Amino acid sequence: MGYENVADIFSQISRLYDRFLSTATAGQVHSWQRELISRMNPYGNWLDVGTGTGEVLKKLGDRYEGLRVGIDPAFGMLRVAKGKCPDCFFLQALGEELPFKDKSFKNVSLSLVFRHLQDKERFIEEAKRVLEEGGKVGIIDIGRFRGTPVLLFLMRTILKPVGSLLFGKEKWDFFIHSVEESYSLEEVRSIFEGKGFCLEYSNRRFFGVVQVAVFVRTA
Ligand SMILES: C[S@@+](CC[C@H](N)C(=O)[O-])C[C@H]1O[C@@H](n2cnc3c(N)ncnc32)[C@H](O)[C@@H]1O
Repeated sequence: MGYENVADIFSQISRLYDRFLSTATAGQVHSWQRELISRMNPYGNWLDVGTGTGEVLKKLGDRYEGLRVGIDPAFGMLRVAKGKCPDCFFLQALGEELPFKDKSFKNVSLSLVFRHLQDKERFIEEAKRVLEEGGKVGIIDIGRFRGTPVLLFLMRTILKPVGSLLFGKEKWDFFIHSVEESYSLEEVRSIFEGKGFCLEYSNRRFFGVVQVAVFVRTA
């Protein structure tokens, strides 16, 4: 699926998105995002890639020192984000082509986005370019784990009628595909370490389904 189709899908669900995510994670997503924030640099410009409705930037709060910038290819998501977080800056852009100068940020976050990136290595090179010395990349994502085949089975069977009813069949199939695309922490770590980052922190949440990981730019 091309970038434009992905952006369309997320734009179309932008109004439902926050409520759906909160329900689907039993409200846990908020504590994963707070955990990620607590492990990042507590200062400097912050870039949230695939910002969606801007929740990570909103949780950083108005008193965060440094610019809060969100990018996303889905314009509908950005419109919701701007309504929730009027002091943040939002741009329509892709993680694989960051429209920023070198060393512009101290933190780059991705909440539930990494598996959607179509060129993960290109994103990591871009993140490294826009990060200052000691800059961090923080990721929350559904990771590949022992229960992934069960989760996929449920999405294809029991959850399918509700998912298809809420989002439409094409979008539900896209979500199934994005879970198929998930990486284990070891795989993510190996890609980052090959590109000049080291793993500083990791944790599993939600019965091991969700990974929180922070990488520091070393080279
Ligand atoms: C599951 S949502 C996560 C939104 C938000 N970060 C959150 O935690 O609620 C995934 C977001 O990634 C965006 N996205 C998809 N492909 C992307 C890409 N290549 N670069 C940047 N963002 C992308 C989508 O448009 C969508 O808003």
